[in-house]
This record gives sequence, structure tokens and C-alpha cells, in this order.
Amino acid sequence: MTESELDIHRGEAEIAEALRTDVREGLSARRKWLPSKWFYDAAGSRLFEDITALPEYYPTRSEREVLAREAGEIARITGAHTLVELGSGSSEKTRLLLDGLREHGSLRTFVPLDVSESALAEAVGAIQAGYPGLDVRGVVGDFTEHLDLLPGEPPRLVVFLGGTIGNFLPADRAKFLHAVRDVLAEGEWFLLGTDLVKDAGTLVRAYDDAAGVTAAFNRNVLRVVNDVLGADFDPGAWEHVAHWDAEHEWIEMRLRTPEAVRVAIPGAGLEVSFEAGEYIRTEISAKFRREGVVAELAEAGLAVEHWWADAAARFGVSLARAVS
Ligand code: SAH
Ligand code: AVI
Repeated sequence: MTESELDIHRGEAEIAEALRTDVREGLSARRKWLPSKWFYDAAGSRLFEDITALPEYYPTRSEREVLAREAGEIARITGAHTLVELGSGSSEKTRLLLDGLREHGSLRTFVPLDVSESALAEAVGAIQAGYPGLDVRGVVGDFTEHLDLLPGEPPRLVVFLGGTIGNFLPADRAKFLHAVRDVLAEGEWFLLGTDLVKDAGTLVRAYDDAAGVTAAFNRNVLRVVNDVLGADFDPGAWEHVAHWDAEHEWIEMRLRTPEAVRVAIPGAGLEVSFEAGEYIRTEISAKFRREGVVAELAEAGLAVEHWWADAAARFGVSLARAVS
């Protein structure tokens, strides 16, 4: 796979501009934060793949269990000609859906979309090699901005796996679901993976693993700000925190500085002072209940027709149809 074969809606200049805007907003706020999409440069995407293999990180395995069991059924119900995957990453689990749709005989085009050009290029190369004859059109883009640019003929099945929907704040989540509904024609399909509410111990362990891979993934966002905006964060000096917020039912990942520190971010024209113990919120990962997922999708014009969970009821997958 060469770069030129990807459809790139976000090049280096746009990335730097978008990061500059987000850093200015997030790090000048009273409670500092950074959007989680900035984890995913090439190193961050590799670290995420390492996370998916950790014993504590159950979501990938649980979702795979559901997809392995239901892919044939999903293919039969949707009869999709085009499979669109948002935030596709390695597209590893997606192979189960590609297999199901191929066996069913309807699949012509696969459109993976991701902000991470390196992850996408690798995935597209591997899928092209494994599925000869399949039209694979990788799109480097942001799923909060570039949904209207997706190619492929109907009927389409748009999939959003991994529980990435949980990484939106609730208002942004609603906006995103409406945007997904808007690009679908009536009768087309949306398949959504959602991590489910469970005991706090299991959740916190999944985001604070013994080997420290999630901590490295979390700190990677500071490396990205250093690389792109010339900042002088010392990533190793920041502590990884995974906090279960029982009221909002989300895991909040933070980076906390034990010492007061002043950080220069020349590319954003900023100098930021942190007090000892102050933290940056780097991600929320919301956990869901079936009724909530069904209600939020319905509100966006997406009627859930099927709900599946793994045997341990850790992770839910819903299949919704676009309705008027
Ligand atoms: N779907 C895969 C990967 C999940 S990791 C799985 O289930 O394992 C989240 C993926 O979403 C990463 O590949 C990341 O690069 C991508 N991503 C995060 N924010 C994004 C955004 N705003 N637009 C497009 N892709 C995004
Ligand atoms: C991509 N997303 C669904 C992951 C999650 O679980 O929220 C990202 C992640 N953060 C820490 N570990 C994994």
C-alpha cells in the first residue's frame, strides 16, 4: 500500500492546525483537557494494538466473540454492498464482517476511515492482500468532519467498533450519531460496539494494566504535542491515572504532574503553568447500558433491530436501521 492510494482529507498542515486549536482551548481551560484523538500517531496506534492484547483489556476480545458469532447473521440481515468502518485502526475484528458479507455474496467495497494514516495504510495493505477482488478505499480523515465524503454504493453498513463511541462527551456523541444518520439513506445500517457498565475493579484494571502499556499510551499524547508543536513536556514525569466516575459511568484517563511545572508550547504560542497535583484529562471512555444505547440511537433516527452481547455480558453490539 502506498500513500497515494489512500484518500487523504487530513495532511500534516491540517493536523498541526487542528492540534494547535485543541491545545489552545484545552490547556487554557480551568480544568485542563486534550481530545483523545491525539493519542493516535504511529506510535500511539501501535500502543493501542498492544493494549488490545493485554489480559486486563477485555473489550476487544468480548466484541470479537460477538462478531465471530453474529457476522453471518449481520450479513444476511443487511445484505450490504459497502462496508464503511469509522475509526478502523487495524480493522482486525472487521475481517469477521468482511468474511460474513463475502460468504453472503453481497460485498463489493470496503471503506475504512481513520485519522491515523500509518494504521490505515497498514490495514488497507493487509486487507487488500487477504481479500483479492475487494475494492478497498482507505480514507484518512476525522469522523467528526468527513462523513459526507465517504464513497461506496448502497446498501451500506457503517460500523463503529471497539467502544470508540464512548470516547465522545455526551453532547458530542449525540451530534456524531445524528451526523451518521444524516449520511445514511433510509433503510441503511449502523452497527455499533459499546462497552457495558460493570464492576469498577474490572474497569479500572482494563485502563491501568500491570505492564504499564496503557500508561505509555496515555503519555504518548504529550509526545505528540512535543513533536507537532515543539512543546517541552517531559512525558515520563507525568503519572497515569485511570479514574472510574460512577456518576457519569465513564472511565476518565488523566495525566497528573506531581510537581509544579511550566511547559512551553511554541507551536501554539502558549506557556502553560501546572500546579503540583494538577492533571490533564486525556480521555473519557463511557460505559453503556442497553436501554441507554437504544434510546440514544432512536433519538438520532437509528432504530435498533438487534442487540447482541458476549457470554459474560461485558460488551454490547447493536444493529440499527436508519429511519425517518
Ligand atoms: N476500531 C478499532 C480501533 C479502535 S481505537 C478497534 O475496534 O480495535 C480508535 C481508533 O479511532 C484509532 O484507530 C484512532 O486513530 C481512530 N480515531 C480516533 N479519533 C478519531 C477521529 N476523530 N476521526 C477518525 N478516527 C479517529
Ligand atoms: C479506542 N477506545 C475505545 C479505547 C477505550 O477503551 O476507550 C481507547 C483506550 N484508552 C485506554 N485504553 C484503550
